[in-house]
This record gives sequence, structure tokens and C-alpha cells, in this order.
Amino acid sequence: MRVLITAGPTREYLDDVRYLSNASSGRMGYAIAEAALAAGHEVVLVTGPVAISPPVGCEVHPIETTDDLLNTCVELFSKCDGVIAVAAVCDYRPVERVAGKITKTGTAVTFEFIETADVLAELGKQKADRWIVGFALESQDPRANAMRKLKMKNCDCIVLNDTSAIAADSNDVEVLSPDAETVAQFRGTKPKVASDLFGWIETHIAGE
Ligand code: CTP
Repeated sequence: MRVLITAGPTREYLDDVRYLSNASSGRMGYAIAEAALAAGHEVVLVTGPVAISPPVGCEVHPIETTDDLLNTCVELFSKCDGVIAVAAVCDYRPVERVAGKITKTGTAVTFEFIETADVLAELGKQKADRWIVGFALESQDPRANAMRKLKMKNCDCIVLNDTSAIAADSNDVEVLSPDAETVAQFRGTKPKVASDLFGWIETHIAGE
């Protein structure tokens, strides 16, 4: 199989120096990429800026903004069998990016933000016979929110985790099916969860 994996954060620039981003180490996405490679698959990794190195053997596409992520994924998805979307996408961007560096004035400033593109929802529209695994990071009403995302993004399942996963060594995830059943649960270090989760995806979602 050829598996598209998104990982890490995206950045949205206010000017050439300052940006808004999401807290994400990229470790969960990279660990899933590692697990997919270890299982003998081709991995196309689209990654935001992180401090760790991608697993050896991936086809790596570095991106920075959500628009970069969107354009890169739309191009690559058609040649893949499925996608696992682990990226922590920055959902807002400034209405305008100022060229150069905004100078301080000594007073408060106000910026207007608008929503960025929903990359996975876009891939969901182009799905055809490919499979889609989404992640959902929730802090309140987790199952209802995760199910809303699964439907909106046309996912075959969604992996629910909470904010304790951010920058942590371990993770505790629950996989929800389109009929809102808990179909799997994995807990442990991120490499262990990644390996167990990828094995489950191979069998139950990708039909390998
Ligand atoms: N995602 C995406 N593009 C976005 C936002 C999210 O592709 N603009 C993907 C993520 O990679 C993840 C899934 O959609 O697989 C859900 O991401 P999450 O951040 O949990 O939810 P959002 O859709 O951003 O909704 P909210 O911020 O309201 O929780």
C-alpha cells in the first residue's frame, strides 16, 4: 500500500516573523509513519515543522501553512490508497499577512482571523475508493465532537484522543466507527500505540 500521513503543526503568519500555530511535537504521526514502513508499506509523509527527524524510507514533503498542506495533500492523495491525518492543523489565519515586520506601538493590537481550509474535509470529497482515518483532539464532549468530524470529513474511522497527548511520551486513544461504536482502544508509549493502531487500520480499514 501507499499511505499518505500528515503530521506536525501548521503555521499561519501575521507578518514575516510572527505566526500562530498548534502545539504538536509530530511524534504520533512520525511513529505511525514508522509503523507503516515497518509493515512494508510506502509512506508519503506531509509534515509541518517539528524538531524530530522523519523515519528513514519515507517520501517526505515539508509544509508550513495550512494552504501548503492542502495543496500538497490534494496532489498526493490521488496516488495513495488511503490517508491517516495526524497533523495538528492551525484552524485560523490572519485576514492579511503583513509584509516585513509589524513595529510595536506600545499599545494593544487587534488582529482579525478567519478559518483556514479543512484539509481532511477536502480529501473526504475526493475519497472515491480510498480510505480515510482522521484524528480528533477533544477537550469537551469528546465522542459527539469526534463523530461530527468523522461525518463531516467522510472518514472510515476517527481516532479520539485528548489534550494530554500534546507533547507527551504516551497516548491513550479510542477508535470510533461511522456508527459511533468504540471499535478499538490503544494505550501506551506513542510508538506502541502507533504500531497497534496501524496494525488495526491495516486489517479493519485498509483490508490488507
Ligand atoms: N484537520 C484538517 N484540516 C483542518 C483541521 C483539521 O485536515 N483545518 C484534520 C486533522 O488532521 C484531524 C482532523 O481533521 O485528522 C480533526 O482535527 P481537530 O483539530 O481535532 O478538529 P477540527 O476539525 O480542527 O475542529 P475543532 O478545532 O473545532 O476541534
